[in-house]
Amino acid sequence: MTTYITTPIYYVNAQPHLGHAYTTIIADTYSRFRRLEGDDVRFQTGTDEHGDKIAEAAEKQGLSPREYVDRISAMFRDTWPLLHITPDNFIRTTDTGHIALVQKLLQQVYDKGDIYFDEYSGNYCKGCERFLTEKELMDGKCPDHQTVPEEITEQNYFFRMSKYQQQLIDHIQTNPEFITPERYRNEVLSFLSEPLEDLCISRPTSRLTWGIQLPFDSSFVTYVWFDALINYLTGLGYPDDEKFARYWGSAEHLIAKDILKPHAIFWPTMLLSMEIPLYKKLHVHGYWNVDETKMSKSIGNVVRPAELVEEYGADCLRYFVLREMSFGLDASFSSDAIVARKNSDLANDLGNLYSRSMAMLVKYTGGVVPDPGKDDSDDTLLRDLAASVLIRYRKAMSNFEFHRGLQAVWELISLANKYIVSNEPWTLVKDPAMEGRLHAVLYNLIETLRLLALMLQPVMPETCAKMTTGLGLPVDSPFVTDLAQGGDWGLFPAGTGLVAIDALFPRMEKKKVSKKQQKKGKPAKKKKKVVEESLEGMISFEQFQGVDLRVAEIVAAEPVKKSDRLLKLTVKAPQERVIVAGIAEYYSASELIGMQVLIVANLKPVRLMGVESQGMVLAAKEEVDGRTQLVLSTVSGKVAPGSRVA
Ligand code: MSP
Repeated sequence: MTTYITTPIYYVNAQPHLGHAYTTIIADTYSRFRRLEGDDVRFQTGTDEHGDKIAEAAEKQGLSPREYVDRISAMFRDTWPLLHITPDNFIRTTDTGHIALVQKLLQQVYDKGDIYFDEYSGNYCKGCERFLTEKELMDGKCPDHQTVPEEITEQNYFFRMSKYQQQLIDHIQTNPEFITPERYRNEVLSFLSEPLEDLCISRPTSRLTWGIQLPFDSSFVTYVWFDALINYLTGLGYPDDEKFARYWGSAEHLIAKDILKPHAIFWPTMLLSMEIPLYKKLHVHGYWNVDETKMSKSIGNVVRPAELVEEYGADCLRYFVLREMSFGLDASFSSDAIVARKNSDLANDLGNLYSRSMAMLVKYTGGVVPDPGKDDSDDTLLRDLAASVLIRYRKAMSNFEFHRGLQAVWELISLANKYIVSNEPWTLVKDPAMEGRLHAVLYNLIETLRLLALMLQPVMPETCAKMTTGLGLPVDSPFVTDLAQGGDWGLFPAGTGLVAIDALFPRMEKKKVSKKQQKKGKPAKKKKKVVEESLEGMISFEQFQGVDLRVAEIVAAEPVKKSDRLLKLTVKAPQERVIVAGIAEYYSASELIGMQVLIVANLKPVRLMGVESQGMVLAAKEEVDGRTQLVLSTVSGKVAPGSRVA
């Protein structure tokens, strides 16, 4: 199998920050994971260097656009190795090969009749680098940039995007995994339910010169998005290079929700016009805020990845962002949160398991992996859990559910720590009759560590290389680099000699003064106890966001057999699902049909009187004269089933 994974190419009007780092860490982790699965992988990132924003930023710095883009692009390129990110290709839109391909494809689309010349007036947002429709504006402003767009009337070239609207809808509908998570697929389908406008793809050189000249009219340059999206093809040497034939069929684009429309609508319609097969998948993630606030230069809370690496280490940062954010949802960064994860998950759970197990082997078997022999205690705890974790890990990582994959791995770590306590190797060693059992216990621990080094490698490559060295295995051993060959239990060769290494994760002080604060002479933020106490019992914004509340329309209702209390409801949200609700005493089945109610859509399914319930209906309860009254919650106007409640 092949995998082609891409990140957006980042604008060079700003230096890399946590948001860019997150996307690129995911792409790197995913490419390492696919390699563990045996795939032939190509991972591409790069920089987007044309357009209004860049020209403006260069001017502000008193540099020519060329000097400016060279400088900032290098900052992106140099940041990635600090985070252990190793792309196979770093593309720049100012590369001559890219410019030539954009012009070639423009000419092809023009010759086909899919580009025409017209006059256009509209609201142009510089931040988005595109015209916004009236519907997109909020109080006359761009919702993303909070600026009033400029009204511009000019003659331009347009791409017949509308011509491909139906074909795109059909493709999304027949390929449910084309855009994931599902909420973004629904967003795109809902956008496509209205007629699409054609896309303005040129800028007159009187207004902007920093762009790729249109091959059929030298008084215009190409709109930056039409130029930028083509990078995904340039990077494979389209059309003639063998890399295109090899990788394009497996193209997976990774982006955040801010650039969903260009990737889910502009790009596929461009590909349809260019007669190139559509990419395989688009994965869309949420946004990082900082201390619950939007990251922005004006607020001064922009988090720089290089500073985080210096403070916490690259592997810790990688682990933190992947574990903390549910892919697709927003999350908030704070230094307390990363220190907490480092201390509890990394230093306590993983670090301690590693150091305790290694120390016991050194002490009890002279640092040599014992032969597990025939252990007749019927102890398969670790082995059974490891097998189930491995399956769940592989599934979650393939589906971009990194937090789930890591949660599963931590179940194994936690059981292994308990296994040490319950088996007390320090007691077993005192009884010569128990030597076989001692060896089996130690072997099981070392084998667990090997599987952890295998599974955690895509997320924490440096730590896993250290662990592997400590375990006495070559870093390229298939036991730690290949999920198919190394995933089974019991592969660790007995007789292997362990190697002493330093602790994996030294603990950190929670209220450590950050290096930045030290420089500025500011004291560390103090959390007052009173505040903590008054917040007891409250949940954070992310915890709330973790609850998926939806509007659901009841399409069928019937009593559950042998129950006076339960009704089986079939609801649309927007897919149909069954929810069992304890409301039979208050509502008859027939009066519920057509009602819109609020549901919790992401509760784990449970079986109630033999019927699986996939969610919960919300209702208000009150006591009237000692009797409970129950009223279902609903919305004040009709909305599309499946709408999110927030
Ligand atoms: N140049 C375009 C992309 C062209 S791709 C053909 C662009 N560049 S950008 O520099 O603005 O990068 C946007 C991307 O950076 C997001 O889609 C996301 O991958 C990442 N992020 C930027 N800020 C982010 C957060 N606050 N949180 C998470 N990721 C974010 O758009």
